[in-house]
Amino acid sequence: EKNGYDHFMLKEIHEQPTTIYDAMRGRVSSKENRVTLRGLEEYANRFVRANRIIIVACGTSYHSGLIGEYLIEDLARIPVEVEYASEFRYRNPILNERDIVIALSQSGETADTLAALELAKSKGAMIYGIVNSVGSSIARLTDAGSYIHAGPEIGVASTKAFTGQVTVLTLLALSMAQKLSTISTTTFHTLTAELERIPEKVKECLKADEHIRYIAKEIKHHHNALYLGRGYNFPVALEGALKLKEISYIHAEGYPAAEMKHGPIALIDETMPVIVTATNRSAYEKIISNVQEVLARKGVVIAVVPKGETAISAMAHHVIEIPNTEEQLSPLLSVIPLQLLSYHIAVELGRNVDQPRNLAKSVTVE
Ligand code: M6R
Repeated sequence: EKNGYDHFMLKEIHEQPTTIYDAMRGRVSSKENRVTLRGLEEYANRFVRANRIIIVACGTSYHSGLIGEYLIEDLARIPVEVEYASEFRYRNPILNERDIVIALSQSGETADTLAALELAKSKGAMIYGIVNSVGSSIARLTDAGSYIHAGPEIGVASTKAFTGQVTVLTLLALSMAQKLSTISTTTFHTLTAELERIPEKVKECLKADEHIRYIAKEIKHHHNALYLGRGYNFPVALEGALKLKEISYIHAEGYPAAEMKHGPIALIDETMPVIVTATNRSAYEKIISNVQEVLARKGVVIAVVPKGETAISAMAHHVIEIPNTEEQLSPLLSVIPLQLLSYHIAVELGRNVDQPRNLAKSVTVE
């Protein structure tokens, strides 16, 4: 069943060129200048009249929700809030018929996410699901939705579901933007054409596997790690840190790179690996200075950079190159090396990668 891979997690990481393709199959055509999500088409009126979109989710799905926030606000110009389902449901949120609540869930069975949706429904909000498990409780409760079609995810650490969710959120943002005329035809074409190239580019990212294994051996003995990213790469930093925590039991935190100087910089010394995702074109100079700040305090820098990058590559202790892409699509590539890094560190430490201690694949209790 593992298809020759040592673990389900590794198999699922390597499936991503296919699963991302499957998430967009039939839904996007750059040639026809079109993105079609059936669930969205059905409720197109509600979507274009929406005051606000609220995304509710837990764990990794929450991180893809944050990327969804950046995408929808950036492209479709509708205000978005992302909330942990567990917080949302207990804080008496303000909701009405002009709000759309989107739930993100791999399993479709997460108790807190389900309860948050029930609450939203009772207040008249339209509820939309972006789910992997077909026919799951969340899928059944929602008014409409889009499956990510990633196939069963067995490893407790979510990988292909994350990129599947981000792919569908990208399609959703593009489709809404087209309907609301908040995107130019050129940008729409550039992004859809580039999205179609993403599965090939993910394959490129996966080629760094051996190199990442080597880096894992170099840093596995550390007890802490810091993940930094800006803009679209900030949620990726959070996701990288969560992946490392849950399967290797190494303490890790994700931060927006610029927040470092507001506290976490105090932690940095030669025992602190800092994983910097620096594929952004915007704020690039600022990321360079963040890296310099880490190095000045003897932190060990592992940098994920676009191919051909020179400034950060020359300074970092370890460099992982990934293909160039549009900034809005960069999480689909930059998360891949972080998934592989946590996988290899966990294997090196002899951890139970697919079934880490204390964790369950679906969290069906609060
Ligand atoms: O099935 P869901 O997407 O609703 O699950 C949410 C979280 O429990 C899940 O993402 C969890 O954080 C994973 N173990 C992360 O790898």
